[in-house]
Amino acid sequence: MVDSIVFDEERIVTTSEQTGDDWQYSLRPRHLREYIGQDKAKENLRIFIQAAMNRNEALDHVLLCGPPGLGKTTMAGIIANELGVNFRITSGPAINHSGDLAALLTNLSDRDVLFIDEIHRLSRNVEEVLYSAMEDYALDIVIGKGPSARSIRLDIAPFTLIGATTRAGALAAPLRDRFGVISRLEYYKPEELVLVIKRAADILDIKIEDKGAMEIARRSRGTPRIANRLLKRVRDFAQIIGDGVITDRIADDALLRLEVDRMGLDRTDRSILSTMINKFTGGPVGIDTLAAAISEENDTIEDVYEPYLLQLGFINRTPRGRTVTRAGYEHMGIPYPEN
Ligand code: ADE
Repeated sequence: MVDSIVFDEERIVTTSEQTGDDWQYSLRPRHLREYIGQDKAKENLRIFIQAAMNRNEALDHVLLCGPPGLGKTTMAGIIANELGVNFRITSGPAINHSGDLAALLTNLSDRDVLFIDEIHRLSRNVEEVLYSAMEDYALDIVIGKGPSARSIRLDIAPFTLIGATTRAGALAAPLRDRFGVISRLEYYKPEELVLVIKRAADILDIKIEDKGAMEIARRSRGTPRIANRLLKRVRDFAQIIGDGVITDRIADDALLRLEVDRMGLDRTDRSILSTMINKFTGGPVGIDTLAAAISEENDTIEDVYEPYLLQLGFINRTPRGRTVTRAGYEHMGIPYPEN
């Protein structure tokens, strides 16, 4: 079956998880030694895991922060696997009532890992249940209503909470303070993505040259999820217009046809830059004005498009609005106005 390529609604370079990404689960490393990149986070976690195991204790609670697609869920699964315990997964938006969380917590076995993705999206009353659970491995449950209501304390098994968030700043301070380990995942360097791509190609039985892997890596926005997605698409081109091997020429040709340019920008990214340059003389332009000009929502621009453009240094955020930098002009092949 041919996977659908839907532009705009589901960009091939989106960092968020798409329904069609399920196949990537089989690529997830299960051990720290297989996990490529994030050396700092990995080395620290290796020590904390070993130390907790030597003491026969639950690992301290871990907060994983960083942009989508860098492997926070994968890392959490690896931690549970290395600890030799069960891995329970949920997410902030999936927990609607404090009772849902209480049910999850009371079902944990000794030293299990509970993973809460998008933990910054927990509601306040659900979050409060976590405080005593994390600190004392206990739940305070109120029984009854009105004057006769009383609170009982229920012990739960010592466990490790692993929270993942794209926005550490959005986390309430009392919650953030209860994590013993805070680990920030960084965008991958192209050389690291080459290894990720070659590993995936090996598992999927795709033939790829080193230079072909580098061509894909450079356009993957520092994000393994995108790298793997592009690899799969480029393979189709290699099969049909080449002899099945992904070379740098095939990768370059395929990605240009998919409208992913040499820095990993797609049509919408480029349209944002060209609109800012041509309609607003490079800015500053307010987010509302820009959103109206390209018919997008403010939030979409801020959450989806801006982070990578900021990261590349193609745009700047100033108090008066967004501006295109010299590098942004150069990338679009337009001379930078000198005054
Ligand atoms: N697949 C996706 N991300 C990976 C990583 N960091 N290491 C190994 N394989 C991966």
